Amino acid sequence: MPTTCVIGLQWGDEAKARVLDVFSAEADCVVRSQGGSNAGHTVIIGEEKFVLHLVPTGVLRPGVLSVIGNGVVVDPKFLLEEIAELQQRGVQVEGNLVVSDRAHLVMPYHRLFDSLAEGRRGQDKIGTTMKGVGPCYADKSARTGLRVADLYQPGFFRERLRAALEEKNALLRGLYGQPELEGDAIAEEYLGYAAKLQPLVHDTQRLLLDLLDAGKHIILEGAQGTLLDIDHGTYPFVTSSNASVFGAMSGAGLPPHRIDEVVGVMKAYTTRVGGGPFPTELADEVGSLLRDAGNEFGATTGRPRRCGWLDLVACQYTARLNGIDSIALTKLDILSGLKTVKVSGAYRVRGKTVTSFPAAVGDLEAARPVYEELPGWPGRLGEAREFSDLPREAQGYIEHLEEALDRPITLICVGPERDQVIRRKPG
Ligand code: IMP
Repeated sequence: MPTTCVIGLQWGDEAKARVLDVFSAEADCVVRSQGGSNAGHTVIIGEEKFVLHLVPTGVLRPGVLSVIGNGVVVDPKFLLEEIAELQQRGVQVEGNLVVSDRAHLVMPYHRLFDSLAEGRRGQDKIGTTMKGVGPCYADKSARTGLRVADLYQPGFFRERLRAALEEKNALLRGLYGQPELEGDAIAEEYLGYAAKLQPLVHDTQRLLLDLLDAGKHIILEGAQGTLLDIDHGTYPFVTSSNASVFGAMSGAGLPPHRIDEVVGVMKAYTTRVGGGPFPTELADEVGSLLRDAGNEFGATTGRPRRCGWLDLVACQYTARLNGIDSIALTKLDILSGLKTVKVSGAYRVRGKTVTSFPAAVGDLEAARPVYEELPGWPGRLGEAREFSDLPREAQGYIEHLEEALDRPITLICVGPERDQVIRRKPG
């Protein structure tokens, strides 16, 4: 059985959860491998709307094992609350969810430093989700982090926490003029979570390799999107993990040759939440129309998302980088009713035409999209289940994207419901 990796090709919010929910119907296991509670994965099942942050979308499919991998940063308080909420809504979590013993813990000071650092950045703020994700990954790299496994070594946990707080308190006092944090209270709180989490904690790398050896079908659930990747995104306006195929491997603990298929999820237009360059952003009525029709408000923070036309320069870059085999195109229905639709196939940057995605933020800010204008289509698409059910112009739009990205579009979402999907064989 194949291992499928599902990756966002834009700045996150590509409606990956929608696609993952379709795929997880055929899977044995769904793994989150990076990010933390900054993610907001929305799945609509009939009248019910679920927004998952740390728990993989597989939990909504009975019999599918959900794994929070070693590369995820876990806020235990948040995780326990999310689990309790799911249980209250009748979702069977016990026995269906495991957490890596190697995952790093988001500590109270990570959340605090996330907001203090953003405050200091002023105009240049990143617009983080304030979930403590960046500071937690910073500590992981600085080797001052605490991991899930440490919760079960109380002496070691207290000592590591004491050492970390020495540095944090010096910063709080000296740089931010804030009161110091008290180690004992934090230790008590976190060691209190240890017992509640214990039934979930596993050596997930080994578990996943065993599942693969047993022929099980695993899906790697990407969070955020490649343009927010710490190495490949629009740095510094990025998240702090590898939100690409690279993070999926290290964050699940799977070697590259065990990944059989990479699916890139691309929204039919572009959105971005938070700061940073966005060449095809629309500050006009089409931008507002996309925001309203597409309900483009952050699932984690509620912030309105910035909206614009599909950027094929960016998507060519991310599709190639991730080595994607096929594309899942989401929210095609939101473009219905527009006279024409535009896609950016190149940029003009300081008098030059470029088709490669620039590294420098200044170049991206200076980039003016060179648009191709395609005919729009009338009516709603929600009833379409076959490619041939789509209006001719919508088919033309899809074929244009396939040609530009040199990849087949094998899944098309035409509405928010589970069954509002068109599946196609690569042509
Ligand atoms: P952080 O991940 O909270 O540090 O935020 C860094 C940047 O990534 C900000 O621009 C956030 O808006 C963005 N971001 C983080 N998580 C998501 C997500 O799940 N969807 C979209 N944007 C995200």
